[in-house]
Amino acid sequence: MLADVVVGLSYGDEGKGKVTHHLLKTGDYTHCIRYNGGCNAGHTIYHNNKKFITHHIPAGVFFGVKSIIGSGCVVNMEQFNAEIRMLHAVGIQTKGMVFIAENAHIITEDHVEEDSRDTKIGTTKQGNGPAYRDKYDRRGVLAKNHPDLQQSGYLIDLYDELHNSEEEPVILFEGAQGFGLDIDWGDYPYVTSSHCTTAGALLNGVPPQAIRNVFGVAKAYDTYVGAKDFHGASVIFDKIQELGAEFGATTGRPRQCNWLNLDSLKKSVNINGATVVVINKIDILRQANKWAVLQGQNEVFFMNEDEWTSYIENQLPNVQIRFSDSPKRI
Ligand code: IMP
Ligand code: MG
Repeated sequence: MLADVVVGLSYGDEGKGKVTHHLLKTGDYTHCIRYNGGCNAGHTIYHNNKKFITHHIPAGVFFGVKSIIGSGCVVNMEQFNAEIRMLHAVGIQTKGMVFIAENAHIITEDHVEEDSRDTKIGTTKQGNGPAYRDKYDRRGVLAKNHPDLQQSGYLIDLYDELHNSEEEPVILFEGAQGFGLDIDWGDYPYVTSSHCTTAGALLNGVPPQAIRNVFGVAKAYDTYVGAKDFHGASVIFDKIQELGAEFGATTGRPRQCNWLNLDSLKKSVNINGATVVVINKIDILRQANKWAVLQGQNEVFFMNEDEWTSYIENQLPNVQIRFSDSPKRI
């Protein structure tokens, strides 16, 4: 089997969805698998001139590709059912197309209630942390044991599906959040509770040899949502926030903004094994008319876009870099 991975190189909200869509359009993939996280993630999809926001169901469903919520994920059944209804309402079939791995874990009402009281991390209050805690404490609820799922046709055994199928699977893994929020490599404790790196994809029943391309996604500037201080001091960051519409897809909270941190980016590219790096939303810096990066605590400024892109390319010599503008809105 073969697998490509779309992974966040920063703090989520890098535009991974755009890359996923671009890749799905090639028709190369048999499966699209979300490999980590819960409904803390928000995925905005522009499909047939309509805007959709999904939190659980991977984008493959919009392209007729089997879409699976993987074993590395935690699932809120209410949210899952709401997304199924949203898809049915626009005539998209989900039976035989959308699945939850039997060994994914369930986010319960108690998890959501507990997370709603968080003040320390600035979570999305979706019950993500408590659900993973209970998983690791060995008192979680497996998807296969959830009464609503047992006869639903939405459960899948990932081993059977990927290792015992006649057709060779070609998988697109969709990561949620990003490197700076990873439970092991992020800025602990200001992290999410799952494995956001490429390694997290391998927890979903795929051997390491299957990995082909790793598409790391970053933005022209960094953004972060949560309780720590991150926003740069200059008013330019307020302007970038506004120009880039940097407000959370799940919570509507403003995303704190700062220059692209090249030290973190390099580390993230290396640890994730990115083969291609996509840097999104270049048009926002163009509109702000300021070109800079952070490196070793310093702000490094450039005269223009060309100088900025060349500098970044020179800093990451071993990967292909694609600079890209914001997606067109409707
Ligand atoms: P949790 O994942 O809800 O527990 O939140 C932990 C941290 O991750 C908080 O700082 C959240 O704002 C952040 N976070 C979680 N999901 C996302 C996402 O999809 N985009 C950006 N930040 C996220
Ligand atoms: Mg997102």
